[in-house]
Amino acid sequence: MRLLTTITLAAALLAGAASAQDGAALFNAQCKSCHTLTAASGPAGPSLKGVAGRKIAGAPGYAYSKALAGKGGTWSDAQLNAFLSGPATFAPGTKMFNKVADPKARAAIVGYLKTQK
Ligand code: HEC
Repeated sequence: MRLLTTITLAAALLAGAASAQDGAALFNAQCKSCHTLTAASGPAGPSLKGVAGRKIAGAPGYAYSKALAGKGGTWSDAQLNAFLSGPATFAPGTKMFNKVADPKARAAIVGYLKTQK
C-alpha cells in the first residue's frame, strides 16, 4: 500500500505541471527538512519566508556561508532558478548542496516561494 502511494506520488510529480500547489508538495518533500517558512530560521537553514525579492543571504539570525553572504543582490526568479539548478555553481562554497534538476519542478517551487510572503 505504501509502495503504491509512493509510485502514485512519483507519477504525479513526473507529470510536472508547474503550479504553486505542486510547488508546495515539492517544498514539503525536498526543502522543509532544512527550511522554515516562518520568521525564525532553523538550525539547518535560513527561513525562506519572503525570500523572493529579498536580499540574498538576508534572513535575520542565520549564519550564512561567506560564499552566499558575499554574493550580493536580491533573489529574482532567475537568481532562485539558477541557485536551485546548482547551488555550488551559483555560489561556490555554499553550505547548501541540494539541487533541483527538473526545470518544471524548479519553476513550481519558485512559484510557491513567491506566495510565502
Ligand atoms: C540539507 C539542508 C537543506 C535542504 C534540504 C535545502 N536547503 Fe536551501 N539552504 C540550506 C542552507 C544551509 C542554506 C544556507 C547556504 C549558505 O549559507 O551558503 C540554504 C539556502 C537557501 C536559499 C538562500 C536563502 C537566503 O536567505 O538567501 C534558498 C533560496 C534555498 N536554500 C532554497 C531551498 C529550496 C527551494 C530547497 C528545496 C528544493 C532547499 N533549499 C533545500 C540548506 C538546505
